[in-house]
Amino acid sequence: MGGVSDADALAELAVRRGFYFGSAGAYGGVAGFYTFGPQGAALKRNVEEAWRETFTTRLGNEEIAGPTVMPEAVFEASGHLDGFDDMLVACAECGESHRADHLVEDATDVEDAESLPVPEIEDLVADHGIACPDCGTALAGRSVEEFNLMFETAIGPGDGEPGYLRPETAQAIFVEFPRLKEYARTQLPFGVTQIGPAYRNEISPRRGIVRTREFTQAELEQFVDPDDDDPPLETVADVELRLYPGAEQERDGGSYLTRTVREAVEEGVVESAWVAYFLGVAREWYDRIGVDGDRLRFRQHLAGERAHYASDCWDAESEVGGGVDAAALAADPTAGRWIEIAGFSDRGAYDLSKHAEHGDEPFTLFRQYDEPREVERTTVDPDMSVLGPEYGSRAADVAEALRALAERDPSAFDDGSVTVAVDGSPVTVASDVANVSVETVTEAGEHVRPHVVEPSFGVDRTVYTLLAHGYREDEVDGEPRTSLALSPTVAPTAVGVFPLVSNDEALVDLAESVARSLRAAGLSVTYDESGNIGRRYRRQDEVGTPLCVTVDHEGREGDGPVTVTVRDRDTTAQVRLPAEGLADRLAAVVDGDRTFAALREAGAAVE
Ligand code: GLY
Repeated sequence: MGGVSDADALAELAVRRGFYFGSAGAYGGVAGFYTFGPQGAALKRNVEEAWRETFTTRLGNEEIAGPTVMPEAVFEASGHLDGFDDMLVACAECGESHRADHLVEDATDVEDAESLPVPEIEDLVADHGIACPDCGTALAGRSVEEFNLMFETAIGPGDGEPGYLRPETAQAIFVEFPRLKEYARTQLPFGVTQIGPAYRNEISPRRGIVRTREFTQAELEQFVDPDDDDPPLETVADVELRLYPGAEQERDGGSYLTRTVREAVEEGVVESAWVAYFLGVAREWYDRIGVDGDRLRFRQHLAGERAHYASDCWDAESEVGGGVDAAALAADPTAGRWIEIAGFSDRGAYDLSKHAEHGDEPFTLFRQYDEPREVERTTVDPDMSVLGPEYGSRAADVAEALRALAERDPSAFDDGSVTVAVDGSPVTVASDVANVSVETVTEAGEHVRPHVVEPSFGVDRTVYTLLAHGYREDEVDGEPRTSLALSPTVAPTAVGVFPLVSNDEALVDLAESVARSLRAAGLSVTYDESGNIGRRYRRQDEVGTPLCVTVDHEGREGDGPVTVTVRDRDTTAQVRLPAEGLADRLAAVVDGDRTFAALREAGAAVE
């Protein structure tokens, strides 16, 4: 298990070494917006690249880049306009706004306050004497409001057309389904990915980059045939998952279940095989980028927690420290401070059905039968001589609604009358006015509405997790040291290169040429000749650089090939290697194809 970091120490390191800091400081800053500095931007970019490599390239999916602003109609259809709210309570004394459900969770043993109705939250605030965290004034009697989290904007000049900054990248994929299915040659299953910003006007952004108002998502929308498609489960069948199902969360003394992906599906612990498959892919990916497996779990959402579109959802959660120490966490692995870093939702047909209802294009896909089939088709031929006088200008809409109903649910015409909705109002007509007939037709296939399974990753929180899991404090040569044990896959800098001293031209030239050759091999390199060598090592340790190369006098002595020393960040062990061929050797370590220990065996150890 990695070290348990202190959140304040991490925040201090993040600012001091340029990982991230509150943005627009010159103007007093604005809560919930962060700038990733040079180290943080590189780390974030590497996380995104590693995600793309797995979830787009390796899984054979396609990536798109949609707009971040979309018209109101999109979010009316998606349900975000109505249902994307958090509970807000404002303090009468200082005016500060707070998440009422979070205050309740902090002050009581209620675990999913978000799922409770507003009046119950108001009662809990009053009964537990919950006070404003900023000024201490009691919040009892204050009303709790549903606050929509979307940022509204106007598209175009003047009042413009109402638009919203997307609260999830997913909608920019769903609305394009009619075109995306063509690019996939109308074959299910297919997956579309997107990495980009999403926006939520959080009531109380907090804890640095953990809860922000602008953040980056990496999302995969997997479109599947609900009757026909199985995931390639065998590729991850033996991957072990630490699962925290709803029933275990609700049971006294409940704990984790450790199951392989195959077992999780066979035992029905994870209902959707697609969701289980993606948990397996994610588990392997987290290993690769350096998330500590002992501080990672997959937690099922309780019924009241689920988003409006999800029929089931499992979150990947990481323990990020600051809550309990390592010993307490080892004794009770459910303790600690856990944050959601990804969600794996079964969204069913929800999104495509909603866009079909509200949009003008078919959000279905034509599935060809192996052989043409004879099928019975119920059709209606509404009697306009009856509908016309009765419904006037609405008669054509009533007829269209009857035709649509016959396609959807022929049995609705079995009774004496039938009711359809026209412009939102119910209209009831006698069944025989519809002129129902059943005919046998030959069909080549059918239109199906794909279901969606969605792995959705928060990139900023993943970055935070890597920093928290990599944070170390130890002693080297009797001096305290802070380091970040980041995986070479994502570390902002792969190699630090130093001449031992800066006043020897030959050493400096050689060090510069080593740096050039490593960069030419695609490695990210920091060249540093300032300060003593120990300080230069510490600087690289603090930003998580896995390897440092030092060019010294000894390496240029004698007639043999020029050599340099290579130092490993975590063990501080060193090895002397020829400068020639160095780039290939170091690239193998950075790519995870070789360990530093193997490198050490190949060279001369430096004591
Ligand atoms: N698309 C899932 C989410 O934004 O939470």
